[in-house]
Amino acid sequence: MEIKFDPTKVDKDILKGKFSHLFQKKFLKKWDPEKEAFQEELKWLSEASKKIVEIGCGKGRFLIEMAEKNPSIKFLGFEIINKSYKIAKKRAEGNNLKNLLIVRRDAVPVISLNFPDNFIDEYYLFYPDPWPKRRHRRRRWYFHPFFLELIRTLKIGGKITITTDNINYINEAFYLFKNFYHLEILRFSKVPENFRRTHFEEKFLKRGLTLYEIVGKKIKKFPQHKKYKEQLK
Ligand SMILES: C[S@@+](CC[C@H](N)C(=O)[O-])C[C@H]1O[C@@H](n2cnc3c(N)ncnc32)[C@H](O)[C@@H]1O
Repeated sequence: MEIKFDPTKVDKDILKGKFSHLFQKKFLKKWDPEKEAFQEELKWLSEASKKIVEIGCGKGRFLIEMAEKNPSIKFLGFEIINKSYKIAKKRAEGNNLKNLLIVRRDAVPVISLNFPDNFIDEYYLFYPDPWPKRRHRRRRWYFHPFFLELIRTLKIGGKITITTDNINYINEAFYLFKNFYHLEILRFSKVPENFRRTHFEEKFLKRGLTLYEIVGKKIKKFPQHKKYKEQLK
């Protein structure tokens, strides 16, 4: 199921190393730390040594299944769409899972402002919007300065998983994980056709789409993190 990196699927600017202008450097400015407070939740999360976070958890299927199987791990899901959030929350409560918390919050300011360094074991981003149009490319997660926050808050040895149905998105993610974020690629593959980890995964696979997955491991502190953090101020 492994796939090969295909540079023809990567924007030429990126291959030439011309992508620093794609980062939205000023994004931290507009947040109000009081509004973005996360104290109680953070306290709850800190009680477990292993912590797994999903960004855009939708109706919560992945987290509920994982939380049921791994009672000693704490799971946190972020979802901004109220309808999906409510479904996820109801399902989690119905399963009486004490190790799962689903919040209706934007993960970007909450994580950036509240999470300490080297804190999270695994981040999952299942089927985020791939923003396929070139003029929207700076909205792709790997160009968002938030990606640096994910790496900052990830433990050394921690992992980030992204899945997508977009071949360009997965190849660009591979290139940037490896050459810019200094993550070790643990997996670069097709998602098996019988997988049903999330609602979107099921929907896409039933439609016959090919899905891709990348898993990157943090092997060292991102060397440019401080530099970017300074720019974000
Ligand atoms: C395409 S859906 C995929 C849902 C789910 N991961 C799945 O595979 O079924 C992407 C989800 O990410 C959520 N999302 C996008 N940006 C987010 C953010 N900054 N914080 C929290 N949720 C976010 C959206 O509301 C949406 O529900």
